[in-house]
Amino acid sequence: MGALRLGDPAPDFNAETSQGTLNFYDYLGDSWGILFSHPADFTPVCTTELGTAAKFKAEFDKRNVKMMALSVDDADSHNEWIKDINETQNTVVNFPIVADEHRAVANLYDMIHPNADDTLTVRSVFIIAPDKTVKLILTYPASTGRNFYELLRVVDSLQLTAYHKVATPANWNNGEDVVVSPAIPTEEAKEIFAKGVEEIKPYLRMTPDPTA
Ligand code: BEZ
Repeated sequence: MGALRLGDPAPDFNAETSQGTLNFYDYLGDSWGILFSHPADFTPVCTTELGTAAKFKAEFDKRNVKMMALSVDDADSHNEWIKDINETQNTVVNFPIVADEHRAVANLYDMIHPNADDTLTVRSVFIIAPDKTVKLILTYPASTGRNFYELLRVVDSLQLTAYHKVATPANWNNGEDVVVSPAIPTEEAKEIFAKGVEEIKPYLRMTPDPTA
């Protein structure tokens, strides 16, 4: 199988995790999902990322997003490491971490980039919609911890644009003005968006966030 692309079905899998054996699709249910990989247990950047992810879980819950992490160590290792994460990051890791020591899920999701590291996963992020299609893919190197505010921001954009005929401009944050979808003629946009449409150029029309 080639690399996953946006719009592709997210591959399903059964895996051992820090919370027992889980089926990915059953775990997601009707929720959105975020699957993110880490290079290895007991490493410093990963420790800060998982602690941060645990602190952000309430925000992901509000958005109906279920979190699942992964690294290529076994479940006993994960559970020992979680104690360190909880202690050092002052939190409680409250979502499963896939124990992928055989790299089955890492290979399914193309999380090992051999020219970066031929055994450890890079920092991949997949955001998956309730219909189980892949909506966003991000890849960071081992040396760069992810920005979880950005992950929440992009979930807000994905959810808004899934349900409204809008797109979100550069550096957009929840509640700010959005772009009218280019497919909609301005006259029609004025009927759809009761809060008003500003036509800056025929192809650049802004409207207040329809959900704000
Ligand atoms: C880290 O999480 O700190 C890390 C892991 C692998 C390589 C470099 C850094």
